[in-house]
Amino acid sequence: MLLAVGAAWAAPPDGVSSVRFDAGSRVFRMDAAGVTYAFGVNDRQELQTLYWGGRLQESDGFVAAKAGHGVASFEAPANATQQEFSGWGEGLYSEPALKVSFADGNRDLVLHYVSHEVERDGVVVTLKDISRDVFVELHYSMDASTGVLGRSAVILNRTKAPVMIEQAAAASWNLPVGSDYRLRYLSGRWAAEWTLNEQKIAPGKTVLESRRGSTGHQNSPWFAIERGDAKDEDTGEVWFGALAWSGSWSISVEQDQLRQVRVTGGFNPFDFGYRLAPGERLTTPVFYGGYSQDGIDGASRLLHRFEVTRILPQAPHPRPRPVLYNSWEATGFAVNEAGQVALAEKAASIGVERFVMDDGWFGQRKNDHAGLGDWYVNKQKFPNGLKPLIDKVHGLGMDFGLWVEPEMVNPDSDLYRKHPEWVLNFPGRPHTELRNQLVLNLARSDVRDYVLGFLDDLLKQNDIAFLKWDYNRNWAEPGWDAAATEDQKKVYVTYVENLYGILRELRARHPKVEIESCSGGGGRVDLGIMLLTDEVWTSDNTDPFDRLTIQDGFSYAYTPGVMMAWVTDSPNWVNQRTTSLEYRFLSSMQGGLGVGANLGTWSPEDFAVAKEMIAAYKEVRETVQHGDLYRLISPEGGSEASATESVSVDKRQAVVFAFLHSSQKGYPFPTVKLRGLDAAGQYRLRPIHGAKAEAAPEVASGASWMSRGLDVVLRGDFQAAGFVLEEASR
Ligand code: GLA
Repeated sequence: MLLAVGAAWAAPPDGVSSVRFDAGSRVFRMDAAGVTYAFGVNDRQELQTLYWGGRLQESDGFVAAKAGHGVASFEAPANATQQEFSGWGEGLYSEPALKVSFADGNRDLVLHYVSHEVERDGVVVTLKDISRDVFVELHYSMDASTGVLGRSAVILNRTKAPVMIEQAAAASWNLPVGSDYRLRYLSGRWAAEWTLNEQKIAPGKTVLESRRGSTGHQNSPWFAIERGDAKDEDTGEVWFGALAWSGSWSISVEQDQLRQVRVTGGFNPFDFGYRLAPGERLTTPVFYGGYSQDGIDGASRLLHRFEVTRILPQAPHPRPRPVLYNSWEATGFAVNEAGQVALAEKAASIGVERFVMDDGWFGQRKNDHAGLGDWYVNKQKFPNGLKPLIDKVHGLGMDFGLWVEPEMVNPDSDLYRKHPEWVLNFPGRPHTELRNQLVLNLARSDVRDYVLGFLDDLLKQNDIAFLKWDYNRNWAEPGWDAAATEDQKKVYVTYVENLYGILRELRARHPKVEIESCSGGGGRVDLGIMLLTDEVWTSDNTDPFDRLTIQDGFSYAYTPGVMMAWVTDSPNWVNQRTTSLEYRFLSSMQGGLGVGANLGTWSPEDFAVAKEMIAAYKEVRETVQHGDLYRLISPEGGSEASATESVSVDKRQAVVFAFLHSSQKGYPFPTVKLRGLDAAGQYRLRPIHGAKAEAAPEVASGASWMSRGLDVVLRGDFQAAGFVLEEASR
């Protein structure tokens, strides 16, 4: 409930997020960009959500939080209140944020407010169980430029006995009470990642999750919830969130019997168990949440901006992704010095800036049956080590990147023969091999030290600018037999913490090295890994038509600035579909451009087209990667046509990509109306590689491009066109 209470709040300066606490009402309020978030201590001493939505006026106050009451006498009151972070106890039936077992058998946990500390961009609020010394610190911090709020929890055991944590979320997000919400989420599998799904939020619960030990292809730890029926992608209220965790995770979205809608996310409670010894603490991942009044498109633009300016290792101004060449689809495991040098020479001739040698260069790696774990250079393939190739690549004006899969081992490897105990396993039980490999237990400190050690040596001994860090299987038998029985399930947390620790340490020791997160394509993409890696491999599916929906889905949660896309050979191996080189380039130019084709088979015309396309891409990549993305015509739902537009942050440049699946009955391509331009600015239209527009003026106002639009000429099957608009004057 809102009250005008006059000057309760002192206004924060522009561009600074603020958190304020009103001692009288015991209300916390955070404001930044277009967002206000408020919660308070209620009459039952619970922390209760009061508001999450569009920015309020400074004059808007809140009355003290008041616990809700159910409609039935047999309903425990805890269920009637939208709590920020609930313990499982006193008859709570909704998804708890925290569930514990005490050593004496008690499992009741009731968290009440104790104290708080206001910080520059956030606040830490401490809760405690009503009788036992289990404390929870809730950390809140709001990003000044996007209003995205980061929330996490630290659970502390100050009792004299161990406490078993059975479930721990980072946060619960409560939405205004209602029954007219729709949920969007992403699903997928190998070679078919990032499928966008939409469903009504009905009474009950939907769980998005991974039980696989890593983020997974199947769901992405992201959600967006829209209220009502927005008529387009640019209007309507949207609440969204993304979990920064690369291990097993879960996000539950529930509408309870009082039409309270909440989203709770963190460690996946399935098979979870984290024993906290007296004095120990557990820190949850951070769950980021944001709000937009500009529909689902506005929500993704905010999230992209947040990722680029706050999450990526080079934030707030990440270097645009260099155009790379990758050897995988051209040579598979059959890499050698002469073959790679030949590819590098051709790659350099079309303007590639980074040459990446993929799998096959190490150990006895002839195929995927052997070699993982043995990170020495294969002497048959590279008799003089990697240096001659790297020198050659540098001489051609490119930097050098290398594929590694540090967390894995093939049973057929020296490493496994020496350390069979290093893999995740349950002693005496089968070791399920997937892609003929096992997962090293990175939770073990000896494994962690080994992995950090060999990567550090590799980077010390070779002039490497980039690692493609791959991870090509899911967990089975997640045992950690070297740990005490009660601590073995800590593997879900410690493994990921050690992974992050290795990445952090490598970056500190080799600050110029950039890293790509790959996992059989896009199996490990989340805000946790993005804090430590510069780009991601979107999908092993490089079919340029499939890529349109894959990339569209991806962009709902993640910035095109990390989305790598390669031009590969045609017909493409996935669907045997034949497409022109121009089409393949335009599809890949929607993200970080790469080339993965076998350049040894290209014609002189192919090289000429590629050179022109890469040059055109370099002129627009800052806009594509770090600008604002508008989905002009969605490729979803089998659409015949699709189009995207990226607008630079200063609005001086826009790039349009249009794709046609197949002309039918001679219909022209639908008029493409641009968005996000400066209405009064004059923009000059420039086609990429001979693209054509019907009766388009060369120069027109932003208003004209947005209202009259652009009539793209596209006819045939798998046709594409690209245009650049440059602001001519201001
Ligand atoms: C995974 C990656 C591919 C390639 C292979 C190499 O599948 O996604 O890009 O690197 O591994 O084995």
